[in-house]
Amino acid sequence: MADPHAKMTQATPQEVIISIVAGLLAPLLAIFLVVQLVLGIQDEQKPDTTSEAAQKAIAERIKPVARLEAIDANAPKVEKSGQEVYDAICTSCHAAGALGAPKFDNKGDWGSRIGQGYDTLVKHAIEGIRQMPPRGGGSDLSDVEVARAVAYMANSGGAKFTAPEAAAPAAAAPAAAGAAATASVAKPDPAKGKVVYEATCAACHATGVAGAPKLGDKAAWSARIGQGFEGLYHSALNGKNAMPAKGGNADLPEADLANAVGYMLVEAGGKL
Ligand code: HEC
Ligand code: HEC
Repeated sequence: MADPHAKMTQATPQEVIISIVAGLLAPLLAIFLVVQLVLGIQDEQKPDTTSEAAQKAIAERIKPVARLEAIDANAPKVEKSGQEVYDAICTSCHAAGALGAPKFDNKGDWGSRIGQGYDTLVKHAIEGIRQMPPRGGGSDLSDVEVARAVAYMANSGGAKFTAPEAAAPAAAAPAAAGAAATASVAKPDPAKGKVVYEATCAACHATGVAGAPKLGDKAAWSARIGQGFEGLYHSALNGKNAMPAKGGNADLPEADLANAVGYMLVEAGGKL
């Protein structure tokens, strides 16, 4: 009976109550802490959109996109000057003469090239020639922008070319081409048309393929000239017999087409 262990293993009623309460509370406490921890982590992940600094940061992050959309939506394309185009694109080869490019401001490099004439240089710059990529790789440059850059560069090498002014309506704003068709028909620019002619129309009109009236062949054109520029333009726009609409180049802007017709008409001895 005097076993000392008996006393030690025998729990008193208070001890029983304490251990029961502790046994219940411990898991509850653990659950509570886990829940607190999870909530805390979620809170940290939520971006802070309320403070002024945070809102500024967000505005800063989305700004370039917002600005781009504004340009796309509202502004008509503003054509760059020759110097702007050169500085943005052409300089990468033409400043140092990479790949054999004629160097800016170097009369020796440009002399013989200038002899080809402005139109040919512009054509080469638009279409590319040997190591010179079309439009210098700036595929979204308009013909006018390339032509201005060519004048800027060639003039640095001793030429005295006059860069084209603002583009023909359709070239600047294709969306307005339909509405501006009459305006662009009214004022074709034969000098610009020559470039288009050589790229698109010469395939048939240089040699008279399929009965195409040859460039500068007055006899072949005499009867046609009577229609006046408008009539010829509409034949070229819609096609006529073996002549495909727009010379088969559906993407050709109407102002370019009008310029080409104007060029062909003038070459045929007609008047605009
Ligand atoms: C990737 C390099 C490169 C870039 C960019 C470039 N060019 Fe050139 N360019 C050349 C080379 C190389 C030549 C010489 C080609 C040849 O005659 O073999 C050349 C020649 C030319 C010529 C003379 C063509 C001729 O018939 O003699 C013109 C004009 C010209 N480039 C205009 C431009 C314009 C305008 C730009 C910018 C819109 C431009 N280039 C951007 C490499 C470049
Ligand atoms: C696939 C060959 C071909 C191409 C490419 C071509 N033409 Fe023609 N074109 C013809 C033929 C063929 C005729 C003669 C049609 C007829 O009167 O029977 C013609 C006639 C014309 C006429 C006279 C129409 C008339 O009413 O008498 C004009 C103007 C004309 N072409 C402009 C152009 C222009 C501008 C381009 C380039 C944008 C072009 N053509 C490209 C084949 C072509």
